[in-house]
Amino acid sequence: MRRLRVLLASGPTREPLDPVRYLSNYSTGTMGKRLADAARRRGHKLDWVQCPETAETALDLKRALERRLPKSDVLIMAAAVCDARPAVFQRDKIKKGRLGVICLVKNPDILASLARKKKKSQVFVGFALESRAIFRNALLKFSSKKLDLLLLQRVTAGKRPFGDARPEAYLIGRGGMKLRLVGMDKAQIASILLREVEKVALEKA
Ligand code: CTP
Repeated sequence: MRRLRVLLASGPTREPLDPVRYLSNYSTGTMGKRLADAARRRGHKLDWVQCPETAETALDLKRALERRLPKSDVLIMAAAVCDARPAVFQRDKIKKGRLGVICLVKNPDILASLARKKKKSQVFVGFALESRAIFRNALLKFSSKKLDLLLLQRVTAGKRPFGDARPEAYLIGRGGMKLRLVGMDKAQIASILLREVEKVALEKA
């Protein structure tokens, strides 16, 4: 098996409001850790951008990935990117009396923007968290973000895929390929995902 240069992004971005407060999400980065373990175990060269340590905000992450993508065979975009950020970063701590309304602006869709620079030989893996019409919504992401593989996970208030949870997960590929990964832990899911990445990379070689 060819040694692939795997670019992995994982964990939650943080969008600061002032020096004390930020917006973020419940992602813990656990899936990213399992993916990193699986990629290394299978002998691939790993370039890992861990949020929020290596790249704090969505804009930091976008810059970091744009720089690294040209040297990568595979992009695994497991980061939980905040879709919006506070419109203004206040350099001084905001007094609580002024916290009533926070204006947000949209962050870029990093994966969709990287897809515009994707080379034919590169393998793109995206993630999707969906609550309703999960397959229909996942397929829309699959095509709009030019993906080769998509790991879909269901999220509802009673079914949360974060941390060590065993998520309700499905791996979607080109041509309608779909693997049901329900009841598995994240280490098993990560191994299967890397195996499927290798297959796609081989097809493209
Ligand atoms: N993603 C991204 N940039 C964003 C939002 C998401 O690159 N601003 C990536 C995620 O890392 C993931 C995929 O896009 O690989 C899908 O993320 P998800 O949060 O499920 O969907 P969104 O595209 O944000 O759409 P929605 O929130 O409407 O479901």
